[in-house]
Amino acid sequence: MKVLKLNIVLFGVFLSLISCSNSNSTLSISSKVSSIKDIDGKVNELLGRMTLEEKVGQMNQYVGFWDLTGPAPKSGDAAEKYEHLRKGYVGSMLNVRGVENVRGVQKIAVEESRLGIPLIIGFDVIHGYETISPIPLAESASWDLEAIRKSSEVAAEEAAAAGINWTFAPMVDITRDARWGRVMEGAGEDPYLGSKIAKARVLGFQGTDLSAHTTIAACAKHFAGYGFSESGREYNTVDVGTSTLNNMIFPPFQATVEAGVRTFMNAFNVLNGIPATGNKYLQRDVLKGKWGFDGFVVTDWGSIDEMTSHGLAKDGKEAAKIAANAGSDMDMESHLYVKELSALVREGKVKASFIDDAVKRILKVKFELGLFENPYKYCDETREKEVIGQQSFHDAVLDVAKKSIVLLKNDNQLLPLKKQGQKIALIGALAADKNSPLGNWRIAAKDNSAVSVLEGMQAYKENKLVYAKGADVNVGYTAFTAQVHINTTDKSEFPQAIQAARSADVVVMVLGEIGYQSGEGRSRTKLGLPGVQQELLEAVYKVNKNIVLVLNNGRPLVLNWHQQHLPAIVEAWQLGTQSGNAIAQVLYGDYNPSGKLPMSFPRAVGQAPIYYNYKNTGRPTGAPGVFWSHYEDEKNSPLYPFGYGLSYTSFEYSNLQVKVVSGNKVNISVTLKNSGQKTGKEVVQLYIRDHFASVTRPVKELKGFELVTLEPSESKEISFILTEEELGFYDNDGQFIFEKGDFTIFVGGDSNANLQAQITL
Ligand code: NOJ
Repeated sequence: MKVLKLNIVLFGVFLSLISCSNSNSTLSISSKVSSIKDIDGKVNELLGRMTLEEKVGQMNQYVGFWDLTGPAPKSGDAAEKYEHLRKGYVGSMLNVRGVENVRGVQKIAVEESRLGIPLIIGFDVIHGYETISPIPLAESASWDLEAIRKSSEVAAEEAAAAGINWTFAPMVDITRDARWGRVMEGAGEDPYLGSKIAKARVLGFQGTDLSAHTTIAACAKHFAGYGFSESGREYNTVDVGTSTLNNMIFPPFQATVEAGVRTFMNAFNVLNGIPATGNKYLQRDVLKGKWGFDGFVVTDWGSIDEMTSHGLAKDGKEAAKIAANAGSDMDMESHLYVKELSALVREGKVKASFIDDAVKRILKVKFELGLFENPYKYCDETREKEVIGQQSFHDAVLDVAKKSIVLLKNDNQLLPLKKQGQKIALIGALAADKNSPLGNWRIAAKDNSAVSVLEGMQAYKENKLVYAKGADVNVGYTAFTAQVHINTTDKSEFPQAIQAARSADVVVMVLGEIGYQSGEGRSRTKLGLPGVQQELLEAVYKVNKNIVLVLNNGRPLVLNWHQQHLPAIVEAWQLGTQSGNAIAQVLYGDYNPSGKLPMSFPRAVGQAPIYYNYKNTGRPTGAPGVFWSHYEDEKNSPLYPFGYGLSYTSFEYSNLQVKVVSGNKVNISVTLKNSGQKTGKEVVQLYIRDHFASVTRPVKELKGFELVTLEPSESKEISFILTEEELGFYDNDGQFIFEKGDFTIFVGGDSNANLQAQITL
């Protein structure tokens, strides 16, 4: 022991001599470990020195002392947490942020525990740290993988400057049900687009060098099925068949493994009867087995403990046993591993090799992050001051915010707005709101730090702008406390709004959901405009029909009345810190909108879940009579389909050429022409339909897309190649197969694309 301590001190001195910016490292890992070159060797050497309790300690994650992003834990006060830190019984902390705070806990782990193993510090950097990007669903509407990668890169750099080295993102759950509040956090309903975006986000967070002080470990979540919660109700049961699991839910997760994601988070939900946290099939067989994932799995908040409520485990000890055996490597906030796991191993109920495997995975990621070389590498006060909020971050989030906006309707070219000589009435509480545009999951952002639409539009000075609130949206929502769902009924400010609208050339109404109305724990059964906003809109419409509706929301809404009556509708989501500037630039035509919906917008809540890549029924079309698959009172189709979005110019597709070449390869080309008056960008989308297969296939599947910018009258030939990878699918044993047969190829600007060609392979 004495020898080890001496080594520790010497190594600490050595480190402090070589360390340039952070010279206070007194890392207590032995010099023997540090002299081993490869990470696996280092991990094994260190593991060999650890007691069972220290190993289990690495599998324990505690929340810090500030932000709770889940229910308050039943045990573990600050004194106990400090004691456990000193004993080396804590491997990670979450929600500790800011260099001073991170340094504080890291110092205890590194300088006071026996082996001095550094903590990995996790935080929900979902769409930015302090400089906030659009919510992930909005960003996905850009279909711009480079802009999305950049946004995650910015988030990583800013979070890393605040002491964070691990984000609980990206959420790659496929989401089809707008009632579920967490749709705001994902990439929407399509596994192909979702996989591309998942990869872009992992690359953005982790970069190509995880040990750089600007990059952080990513976490693919929630494995698996969470997006399929029954009736869109948060944390609800998930029951899906193997075809959906393999072809819809798994692909984006597998894509993150291919992209080298270092961690996974499991999910709160039960999947086909087994809670994800206790699901051996998901974690050991598929993730770590079939896909060869070599990072570690953290549970979701308290989800080990929740297996008792699910009815899988009779008490916490049994829950810890099931979770560990199933391959959950780190316990987030159940406090059950630290309490029960050592005894479970001694009793032979959890294999010691499972513990070793979990600890190796955790230590490996810590080594990769460079935490053993310098545990304070993310703790540089100067960098924190200089980096957070820097101008280049604002430029990046403005760029992706503009690209995320989707133009849903624009009759008679009401948009873009004329820049001079107009009287514009700007109406709605959200128009002046500087908080809601930050959306949910913006814990480190300063309150009211977004540019409002009002501020963004004020930059265009040559029009007369009159603002009237009209009505509040909702009151009573806060970040993490129980929300009081009170829709305000106060209409006392309607008259001012109506007055402003009466004499305006154009009315811009900013309506929708406040920032905390979507996200975790915010399921809704109604998908209209909350509160009295619809009434306000209709009251204004009575005096001025020239309305541009700008929507701020975190999920698809039902917009039938709006589509029927209003000349212009702009889907502007919750766009982050630069929201108002992005919206104003689009309204005034300084950016020509190019976004396309990543989720279908329903005509009625009763259609949920609604998605374009559904499977045909045996009775798909309308013979006279009732015996076919339809609703009595609404169409089957969505109001706005997946992939839909307009531009201030128009595009024409022609000359689709499809050629089958050897090896089941298909070459496709199509001509895209800008047939309008303005330069614009189109997302060219390629879909397939595999008509007959041993497991039925969806009526359409996205299999390629390309962003193309064209000048007025310019044409360009766009090419795609399909291989067995795109034409195949997973069978019900989870095997990827390709079956020859008849396919239709569709190309167009949304999932209703009907320029098509048939092929037989
Ligand atoms: C619960 C959420 O489901 C998860 O996504 C998040 O990362 C954790 N809380 C930590 O805040």
